[in-house]
Amino acid sequence: MRILGIESSCDDTSAAVIEDGFLLSNVIASQAVHEAYGGVVPELASRAHQQNIVPVVSEAIKRAGLKPSDLDAIAFTRGPGLMGSLLVGLSFAKGLSSALHIPMIEVNHLQGHVMAHFVQEKDDPHKAPEYPFLCLLVSGGNSQIIRVLAYNDMEVIGQTIDDAAGEAFDKCAKVMGLGYPGGPVVDRLAKEGNPDRFQFAKPHIPGLDYSFSGLKTSFLYTLRDNLKENPDFIEQNKADLCASLQKTIVDILMDKVRRAVKETGIREVAVAGGVSANSGVRGAFEDHAKRYGWTIHLPKLKFTTDNAAMIAIVGLHKFQDKEFCTYDAPAFARVTDKF
Ligand code: KG4
Repeated sequence: MRILGIESSCDDTSAAVIEDGFLLSNVIASQAVHEAYGGVVPELASRAHQQNIVPVVSEAIKRAGLKPSDLDAIAFTRGPGLMGSLLVGLSFAKGLSSALHIPMIEVNHLQGHVMAHFVQEKDDPHKAPEYPFLCLLVSGGNSQIIRVLAYNDMEVIGQTIDDAAGEAFDKCAKVMGLGYPGGPVVDRLAKEGNPDRFQFAKPHIPGLDYSFSGLKTSFLYTLRDNLKENPDFIEQNKADLCASLQKTIVDILMDKVRRAVKETGIREVAVAGGVSANSGVRGAFEDHAKRYGWTIHLPKLKFTTDNAAMIAIVGLHKFQDKEFCTYDAPAFARVTDKF
C-alpha cells in the first residue's frame, strides 16, 4: 500500500510517500519569503506553494524510487490552515488523483500532527504510543490537549483561548529583534541564560484551557520599563530574558498537561507540533516521565514541523477503512473540536 501525502496548510510545501506504514520519502520546501515580514503573509504563501508543489511532489516520488503509477492513493491536508495555501495542495491532489485514477483522502492537519508518532522509518524504528493517550499539540497556530482514543477518535479537551504557544515565542522574540520565526532562536539563547532571573505573568484560566496573551503583555511591559532606564537592556539581558520566557511558557504548558493526566487517568503522554522541538518542553516531558511515571513520546525533530509524512500516515489508516473523499471535497480554514 503506497500513499502519497501532500501538506500545504501554511508556509511549508511538503510531499511524502509511505509504504505499509514505512516512510520512503519526505520532501519539505520551506518559504523564506516571510522572514522579511516577521510572520506568514498568506498571499505570498499561496504563490510559493504554486511554485513548489510540482517539484516537491516529483522529488518525493523519485526519492521513494517509484513512478506515479505505483501510487495507490493521495492524501492531502483539508484544513485547518490558510485557505489559499490549502487550495493549492487540494487542487493538485484532485488533478493527480483524476489523472492516475486512484482515490483521494482528506486529512485533518491536527490529526496529522498527532499521528506523526506512528510514522516508522526502516533504519530507525521506534515505539508508537498506545491508545488511549494524551497529546499536547503545540505549534504556531495551535495549543491543545487532545485525548486520543483511536486514529479517528480524538477529542480536544483543552485549548488556548487566545494566542498559541508558538505565537508567544515568536511575538516575544520579535520585540527583542530576534527575527522570524523566533521560537528556535529563543530556545538557543535560553541555554545560556538564567531561567529564574525574570518573572512573567501566568494565566489563571479554569479547566484545561490555555492563555498566552497575558504573558506576552507582561513580557512587553518588562522590556518597556527596563528600556526607560537602560536603552541596552535587551542586548545585555537577552539570554536571561529568553531563558525566563521559555521557562514560563513550559510551566504554563506542563501545569495543564499534569492536570489532564490527573483528570483522565491516562499516563501515556505525547507532544507534537513545531514547539515540541523546544528543548525546554522536551526536558520537562522527560522530567515528568521520571517523576510521575508517565510513558512519554517525543517526536523526531524532522516530524515536529509541518510535513507530509504525517498526512500520509493518516491517509494509510483511512485507506484501510476505505474513507475516501470525492472531487467536491472543500478546504476548511477552521475545524471543530472533534476529529
Ligand atoms: O507546527 P509548526 O511548524 O507550524 C505551525 O502550525 O505554525 O510550528 C511553528 C512554530 C513557530 O511558532 C516556531 O517558532 C515554533 O513552532 N518553534 C519553536 C521551536 N521550533 C519551532 N518554538 C520554540 N522552540 C523551538 N525550538
